[in-house]
Amino acid sequence: MNLKIAVVPGDGIGPDIVNQAIKVLDKVCELYGHSVSYETVLAGGAAIDKYGVSLPSETLETCKKSDAVLLGAVGGPKWDNVESSNRPEKALLGLRSGLGLFCNLRPAILYKQLKSACPLRSDIIGDGLDIMVVRELTGGIYFGKKGKSEDCNSAYDIMSYSKPEIERIARKAFEIAKKRNSKVTSVDKANVLETSRLWRATTEEVKKEYPECTLDHLYVDNASMQLVKNPHQFDVILTENMFGDILSDEASMITGSIGMLPSASLREDSFGMYEPIHGSAPDIAGLDIANPIATILSVSMMLRYTFNLSPEADAIEKAVYQALEDGYRTPDIYTDGMIKTGTIGMGDAIVERLK
Ligand code: IPM
Ligand code: MG
Repeated sequence: MNLKIAVVPGDGIGPDIVNQAIKVLDKVCELYGHSVSYETVLAGGAAIDKYGVSLPSETLETCKKSDAVLLGAVGGPKWDNVESSNRPEKALLGLRSGLGLFCNLRPAILYKQLKSACPLRSDIIGDGLDIMVVRELTGGIYFGKKGKSEDCNSAYDIMSYSKPEIERIARKAFEIAKKRNSKVTSVDKANVLETSRLWRATTEEVKKEYPECTLDHLYVDNASMQLVKNPHQFDVILTENMFGDILSDEASMITGSIGMLPSASLREDSFGMYEPIHGSAPDIAGLDIANPIATILSVSMMLRYTFNLSPEADAIEKAVYQALEDGYRTPDIYTDGMIKTGTIGMGDAIVERLK
């Protein structure tokens, strides 16, 4: 198979971690007889510096022409004073909406080797954790009308959802749940928000198409509490854009570090954009200490969801598991007695364990 990938390294640690993910993908392709080509494009702060815009149209075009996009991270304090419509984060949102990627999968898995890096008590964690957050990615308050008054003393962001937008993401959540433990927990704020009441009613309707699955509902404040109180109650969490942003950071921390969580942003066909859920961490950029695992696991998701190459995807997951098992730890997941390694060292340890 020939894999055509657009690469958006972005800002901060983006290039550090993306380089390791490419190294892993190259090795997997070599082992399994695939060819892969990369086209690197700029977005975020790097694009502002070079072209004056955070999402150049060539970047979007190149991404559209590829099979999949691998993205590092965007943003940093350097661009804090850039006009809001051109902020680095706008590039990310522009890619998500421009490519139609409405379905964001964020699996939160606690590797048993990282139990001691998990801030929760061991009786709460039990023997690990495996939650899939399904986040709606192209609607809600992120994309609603926004503005501020002329004197800048008031501002607004509108949250809106249409029924078809909720239906399509709900179906994705049920389809995924069917392959897991068939349990969907939909998270909303239906006691306050009109959009959430529509969300709740629509997810109930869609549920009728999936008699094999269960559906329950939690308010987002309660869900954030339940995640640390009893995370085992969750299988698939289905939620709107902003709630999903917040809850996935919380879920990632339960897995030991935000440096561990990959993501896939999908639409109805096989195209997807793959990125770690963490940010660009400009304070540690270029220091060879960022954890590349979230990005490497994002490549595994790419092989699974875009290219339908499950054995190759499994090979990456197993190599990550083995590198952790053998004691390799970047500083964010380091505990006494382990082998402290850097970004490149972790990439090498994973490459060496691929088979
Ligand atoms: C994420 C990030 C982005 C988001 C930011 C960088 C715009 O936090 O992917 O979770 O809020 O979606
Ligand atoms: Mg986030």
